Amino acid sequence: MGKQVVRLGFLGLGTVGSAVYEVLHRNAEDIAMRAGVDFQVRRIAVAHPEKPRPVPVDRDLLTGNAWEVVEDPEVDVIVEVMGGIEPTRSYLLKAIESGKSVVTANKQLMANRGRELLDAAEARGVDLYFEGSVGGGIPIIRPLKESLAADRITEILAILNGTTNYILTKMAQEGWTFSQALADAQRRGFAEQDPTEDIDGHDAASKLAILASVAFNTRVTASDVPREGIAKISPRDIAYAQELGYTIKLLAIGRNTDDHVEVRVHPVLIPSHHPLATVSNEYNAVLIRGDAVGEVMFYGRGAGGLPTASAVISDIVDIGRNIRFRANGRIRCTCYRQKPVLPAEQVEVPFYLSLQVVDRPGVFARIAGVFGEEEVSIASIVQKSRGETAEVIMITHKTREGQMRRVLDRLRDLPVVKEVSNVIRVEDSEG
Ligand SMILES: NC(=O)c1ccc[n+]([C@@H]2O[C@H](COP(=O)([O-])OP(=O)(O)OC[C@H]3O[C@@H](n4cnc5c(N)ncnc54)[C@H](OP(=O)(O)O)[C@@H]3O)[C@@H](O)[C@H]2O)c1
Repeated sequence: MGKQVVRLGFLGLGTVGSAVYEVLHRNAEDIAMRAGVDFQVRRIAVAHPEKPRPVPVDRDLLTGNAWEVVEDPEVDVIVEVMGGIEPTRSYLLKAIESGKSVVTANKQLMANRGRELLDAAEARGVDLYFEGSVGGGIPIIRPLKESLAADRITEILAILNGTTNYILTKMAQEGWTFSQALADAQRRGFAEQDPTEDIDGHDAASKLAILASVAFNTRVTASDVPREGIAKISPRDIAYAQELGYTIKLLAIGRNTDDHVEVRVHPVLIPSHHPLATVSNEYNAVLIRGDAVGEVMFYGRGAGGLPTASAVISDIVDIGRNIRFRANGRIRCTCYRQKPVLPAEQVEVPFYLSLQVVDRPGVFARIAGVFGEEEVSIASIVQKSRGETAEVIMITHKTREGQMRRVLDRLRDLPVVKEVSNVIRVEDSEG
C-alpha cells in the first residue's frame, strides 16, 4: 500500500516559498521516509500569477486568489510564506476554523497576533507551527518546546538580525562608518533598500517577543519590547569598546524571574571573549540559559530562502507525522503563565558613556560630582586629550535606566560638558 498523501496549499511563492517548493521536491524521498507520508503541493496563491518563477512550478497550481487555497477542501496543510499581518491573519483563522493545520514563517504576525492564532488552533485541535519565524534556518522553537522541556529558562541572549550584525562586523573590521557599512550590506543583498525594520531593531524585537513567549511561557508581544537601533554607533565607539575589551553587538535580551520578565533589543558592549562576540557578518546566534541544562548556544544563518525553507519543511514533516498518527494539536501554546514585563526604566545595567568636555583642571571633579549625587558609581574611566577638548569614556556599575537618564540630563546642563556623544548599555552577565 502506498503512503498517505498530505496535501499542501501555499500562500506565497517568493524568496522563502520558492525555496520550500524546491527543497520539498529535491529531497522528496527522504522527507517522505522521515515523515511517513508523501507531500503533494495542491495549490499556490501568489500576488502576480503571471510573474516568472525561479522554480519549475506547474502554472495550473497558481492562483491570484488566496481564498481559493484557504477554502480548498483538498488542502490539508497551509504553508504561509507571504508575510504581513492582514489579510494573512484572516486567511489563517479561516484555514484553522476549517480544520487545516498551518506552518508559518511570519514573525510579524506571530509576534503581534500569535496568541489569537494559537488559541484558535488549540480550540480546533490542529497544529500551528512557526519554526521559520525566528532565526531562519536555526532550530530554536522546537528545541525550546521539546528538547528543553525540563528546564526553567532564565535567560535569552541573541543576535537575531543578520543585517545589523553584518554592518557592525564591517564597522569593527574595516573601520567603516555606519553609512559605508550599510551601503556595502545593500550592495551584497544583506540589507533591504529600505532597511528601517532591521537597523531600528523592529525585526529583532518581533523575534525576541516570539522567543520570550515560548521560553518563558508567558505572552510577550512586539510592542512589549523596548528597542533601540544601531544608526548612532560610531567607529570611535567601536574602537574605544575594543580598547576596553568589548565588542558592540545588537542584542535581543530576555530574562525570566519569579515575578516578571525583562525583554529589550539595543546595541550593547559585550566582553570580546563572550561567545556572541565572535558571531560575525550575517550570522545569527541564540544563547539560552536553563536551570538544568546550563548554557546552550544555537548558531547559523538567520535568514535567506534555503535556510528558512529548512525550518519551514521541518514543521511540515512534523505535521505530516501528526496527521499520520492522528495526533494534531499535541504541541499546544506554551504561554500558560501571565507575567508582567518589567518597565524599561526599572531595568538595571552598566552603561558606557562617551563625553566631549573642556580640557582643563577641575572638570573631571564636576562630572564625577554629578555621578556621586545621583548615586551612580563609575567602574572605569579613560580620558583622551584632543587640544581644547578632551574625550571622556566611562563605564558605570549597574544603574537603573531612570537614574542614568537623570545623570545625562544634568551632564548636558554642565557648561564644561560640550556633548554627550553616545550612551550604550553594557552586557556582562555571566549567568
Ligand atoms: N526572506 C527571508 O530570509 C525570510 C526569513 C525568515 C522569515 N521570512 C518570512 O517569510 C515570509 C515571506 O518572506 P519572503 O522573503 O519569501 O517574501 P517575498 O519574497 O516578498 O514573497 C512573498 C510572496 O507572497 C506573495 N503574496 C504577497 N501578497 C499576497 C496576497 N495578498 N495573496 C497571495 N500571495 C501574496 C507574493 O506573490 P508574488 O510572487 O506574485 O509577488 C510572493 O510570492 C515573511 O513573513 C517573512 O517575514 C523571510
